[in-house]
Amino acid sequence: MEGQFSEKSDVFSFGVLLLEIVSGKRNSSFYYEETPLSLSGYAWQLWNEQKLQSFIDPSLLSEPIFEAEILRCIHVGLLCVQDFAKDRPNMSTTLSMLVSEIAVLPIPKQPAFMERRISTNSNLPAKSQNAWSINNLSITNVEGR
Ligand SMILES: *[C@@H]1O[C@H](CO)[C@@H](O)[C@H](O)[C@H]1NC(C)=O
Ligand SMILES: *[C@@H]1O[C@H](CO)[C@@H](O)[C@H](O)[C@H]1NC(C)=O
Ligand SMILES: *[C@@H]1O[C@H](CO)[C@@H](O)[C@H](O)[C@H]1NC(C)=O
Repeated sequence: MEGQFSEKSDVFSFGVLLLEIVSGKRNSSFYYEETPLSLSGYAWQLWNEQKLQSFIDPSLLSEPIFEAEILRCIHVGLLCVQDFAKDRPNMSTTLSMLVSEIAVLPIPKQPAFMERRISTNSNLPAKSQNAWSINNLSITNVEGR
């Protein structure tokens, strides 16, 4: 948020991607849900309530045999989005965790960006498909100093 990238920024983004895949929800459109939390904040809340199963995209659970692997993905995702970059694993450790080379995972701490960045606009229709627009083009004007 302060424009500073660290070597753990990619790990953070990867964690968000993991959570998006497993939940079937987009990080950016999560404000549809009736919660002030971001996608990672929601995962964190369910972790603390020990209800992680309800984070999983129901269509993934058509094969219940994979539930342990899916829960591991959420756990790793939560480790990647932790608030302090120093707490996040690096990419090689993340991979080892995903493929279970590292069997016992540390307990995640609170994620960064717990709350949605987009403030709730009461004028927005709650479930409308047109509540936001997609910016498919951006133009950079290069100017000499
Ligand atoms: C990743 O982190 C692990 C554990 O802290 C460390 O042993 C390893 O050298 C790191 N890998 C890289 C590529 O920095
Ligand atoms: C995910 O959403 C949160 C809250 O809206 C936002 O702060 C964060 O930048 C987003 N992360 C990514 C990788 O899109
Ligand atoms: C953005 O995408 C929409 C829908 O795909 C399209 O109608 C529109 O022309 C695009 N805009 C630009 C500036 O490319």
